[in-house]
Amino acid sequence: MMLETIDMPITDLHPSPDDIIGDTVAGLSSTPKWLSSKYFYDARGSQLFEQITRQPEYYLTRIELDLLEASMPAINDAVASFAHVVEYGSGSGRKTHLLLEGLDDPVAYTPIEISRTALVASVERLAESFPRIEMLPVCADFTQPVPLPLPARETGHTLVFFPGSTLGNFAECDALRLLCSMRATMGPRGQALVGIDLEKDVALLEAAYNDAAGVTAEFTLNLLARLNREIGSDFDLAGFHHRAVYSRERGRIETHLVSRRVQDVHLDGHTFHFAEGEAMQVEYSHKYTDARFEALAARAGLQVVQRWNDPRDWFGLRLLQPVSVG
Ligand code: TRP
Repeated sequence: MMLETIDMPITDLHPSPDDIIGDTVAGLSSTPKWLSSKYFYDARGSQLFEQITRQPEYYLTRIELDLLEASMPAINDAVASFAHVVEYGSGSGRKTHLLLEGLDDPVAYTPIEISRTALVASVERLAESFPRIEMLPVCADFTQPVPLPLPARETGHTLVFFPGSTLGNFAECDALRLLCSMRATMGPRGQALVGIDLEKDVALLEAAYNDAAGVTAEFTLNLLARLNREIGSDFDLAGFHHRAVYSRERGRIETHLVSRRVQDVHLDGHTFHFAEGEAMQVEYSHKYTDARFEALAARAGLQVVQRWNDPRDWFGLRLLQPVSVG
């Protein structure tokens, strides 16, 4: 269905609204306990994440931006002209800008995003900078296949853009499902440019998720403040501490909130008991080797056709396309 706002047509696929109470009760009832990372980004959480990206230890955003800028001529050579650029998420400001600026005559830009507010804000910003690119935002859940709106001008093919190593925040089976949906969304002649954080020295990885200024700790604890405010839980913020550890075996940073003492937390008529030292999982951030990433992509029917890394091999951009059959 098309809904007109201001002068922007939005395709609204009516993604199911978040069930913050249901998700939180489910996580707190599990063994081990977990909280859904999709609730990190309230206004304060988004502000704190912005601050994380400026911490000296958090190399990801800085390096990806430099890498994208440096690789744009080569990326443009590898991507056909007249692309319909489809971004997973509402557009990361500078990254989207660098991509749209560096491609030959992209025809249209479609961010796919669950939050209408974030969706509208991002296309309004970009429409000013790129008047020739048709803005075709879609309000939907990008973990599902998304039927794309048809640009007015003829397009060569679809280029899905999924930066930020956000793929790494999904558990492996969900990452696989997401890549399968992505292959369906891009179509048989489509391509995808995906950002991945690469495996590296454990001390560097752990420092990135335990910055000395404590911004990441404040960010994860803000999740508890948000839950208290929005769904009436009674987490004592002083009763938990942030901990992020790299698991070599699983190839991921595992971020937890750890109970400092024996305590009970109440929510929606339930009582949840915490032991001293009990860890509640709040985020995974997978770090890839080429072999691991290529194996995952292959299971989704995608092959890596080009790769770009920064000079230290800390972060990578990968161009994927469907494995051709026959
Ligand atoms: N999801 C991003 C990442 O994995 C952002 C992030 C940084 C983050 N530190 C975090 C998310 C701690 C949750 C908890 O890099």
